[in-house]
Amino acid sequence: MTVTVRSFAKINLGLYIGAARADGFHDLRTVYQTIALHDLIRVRVARGIGIEIVCADPRVPCDKTNTCHRIAERVLDELDATGKVTIEIEKNLPVQGGLGAASSNAVATMIALERALKRRLTQPARLRIAADVGSDLPQFLIGGTSLGVGRGEEVYPLPDLPSSPIVVITPDVGVSTPKAFADWDALASGERMKASIATRDQLTHPNASDRLLEVGRALSAWLVSPNTGAPALGGSRAGSLLLDLVRTGIENDFERVVFPQYPELRDIKGALERAGAAYASLSGSGSTLYGLFRTRKAAARALIRLRKQGLKAQAATTLTRAQYWKRLAVSGF
Ligand code: C5P
Repeated sequence: MTVTVRSFAKINLGLYIGAARADGFHDLRTVYQTIALHDLIRVRVARGIGIEIVCADPRVPCDKTNTCHRIAERVLDELDATGKVTIEIEKNLPVQGGLGAASSNAVATMIALERALKRRLTQPARLRIAADVGSDLPQFLIGGTSLGVGRGEEVYPLPDLPSSPIVVITPDVGVSTPKAFADWDALASGERMKASIATRDQLTHPNASDRLLEVGRALSAWLVSPNTGAPALGGSRAGSLLLDLVRTGIENDFERVVFPQYPELRDIKGALERAGAAYASLSGSGSTLYGLFRTRKAAARALIRLRKQGLKAQAATTLTRAQYWKRLAVSGF
């Protein structure tokens, strides 16, 4: 029996990078939001042993480095199960696009493989395995709107933002996340140097952890704001939940290192804003950019305009947690 699962993408509503840690990762704060664009993952288990990845997209590695391969190995191990596992990836989402596709593919594989084996992992085991495979994975075990802390792997469900219209632009460039983090370190150390010269080491420049604390406070203020629970962008109420979050001044730190290297991405953000986006941003380390729109009509108008400019634009919506889980199963459930 083949189990088929929709592997949805995410966007980051703000992403703040803190200090580099001893383990080489960076502390961060981000709000993850699942969206209704997806790949398809098909998992089959037959007699025998081994894990095979099948994908028509030449940019996707089909060897042991593939996140789907890595997670399948871990799941079989944890469940003490054997079998010949075939994982087929039908790719629609960009590779190295900042939409978490490889992470999402892995989590979809875990869910489908459990089904195919007719075995279940506990939720803590799922979260542990997901976090081991990559920082972005655990949020796909939550879905909807979630807060990511630590290296991004520690996730907490947030009050769901109601489904809101977005436009996603996927430029034809891939951005390496490890390189973007390294570029951030170079930028941050340069700024620290400048600040210490400017203050002759007498004043304390706000450091990385102070910044993360500030972001935490802004998010906390947003969570207790009187608008929490109100309809989001799609609704007519101006004080919507999502807009409210945007008004906290959320930013994506990666823009500061990625835009100078890919100026065309900065231009696309500008194009989204000119096309009427209430908020536009890079997702993760890019290269995908998204715009949040107040109404579907406004998003549809923007889509036409952006496509006329030759941009690879797609209309989508954000997915609530309930929608995410409802739409995930395709067949074999
Ligand atoms: O966890 P993941 O495999 O997605 O991370 C890929 C790379 O991105 C890490 O090896 C590290 O270089 C970088 N990274 C980081 N800080 C994070 C997440 C990822 O430096 N919070």
